[in-house]
Amino acid sequence: MKLVFLGPPGAGKGTQAAGVCQRFAIPHISTGDMLRAAIAKGTETGLKAKVFMDQGQLVPDEVLVQMVKERLSESDCVNGYLLDGFPRTVKQAEALDMISKPDVTVDVEVPDEKLLARLTGRRVCMACKGTFHVTKLGDATVCPDCGGELIQRDDDKPATIQKRLDVYHSQTAPLIDYYEKCGSLKKVDGDQAPDKVFEAILVALGG
Ligand code: AP5
Ligand code: MG
Ligand code: ZN
Repeated sequence: MKLVFLGPPGAGKGTQAAGVCQRFAIPHISTGDMLRAAIAKGTETGLKAKVFMDQGQLVPDEVLVQMVKERLSESDCVNGYLLDGFPRTVKQAEALDMISKPDVTVDVEVPDEKLLARLTGRRVCMACKGTFHVTKLGDATVCPDCGGELIQRDDDKPATIQKRLDVYHSQTAPLIDYYEKCGSLKKVDGDQAPDKVFEAILVALGG
């Protein structure tokens, strides 16, 4: 299954990816995670990307298209993939159609007013990359799953979040139309409990 997760920042794409990838035995390819790994390693791509990411802007299309092209050529993608955070522009979607056309695009929908609270309260585990929210963490100061260090992402500051939402509406939301025209779009209500969102995604994927 070749699957794309669309949806605004904080919609729950990363949260839902783990279960969906396990169910369909496909790799989770998050371009945001790949870029953050490149920044942590201090690669040339990472250094270039950081400037854009810290401002809530998109990293240039050519960088992302090349990165995804290389990743999709790896052997674990033989059964398909789950792309999370790519494509994000019509140019990227056109490039993906040439590289490996997706079968299904799931648009996880959450109203803007809910996203700010989700993102300002997000904490990510440095060790297992698990995603949590302060409202569920209680007194925990380390990852409930593995004991790793919990951090706040650099771009989860209110001013940067607002910029990311603006960028989503102007540059990424047009992809809803793009995939609707392709006939591969499935809309899922992301404004419900995570397990309900998971069920809705499975229904959209036909099991
Ligand atoms: P990226 O890492 O892709 O970030 P994003 O799209 O902004 O999405 P997020 O990861 O913030 O949200 P998510 O939907 O994964 O939500 P999550 O599950 O964590 O990209 C970062 C940057 O990299 C971009 O700004 C750009 O600069 C660059 N970039 C990446 N890809 C690019 C591309 N293709 N082209 C150009 N540039 C690119 O959940 C969020 C929070 O909500 C968590 O706290 C979670 O616990 C909570 N939550 C999840 N589900 C629920 C629920 N159902 N109810 C209540 N809370 C929930
Ligand atoms: Mg994510
Ligand atoms: Zn962890």
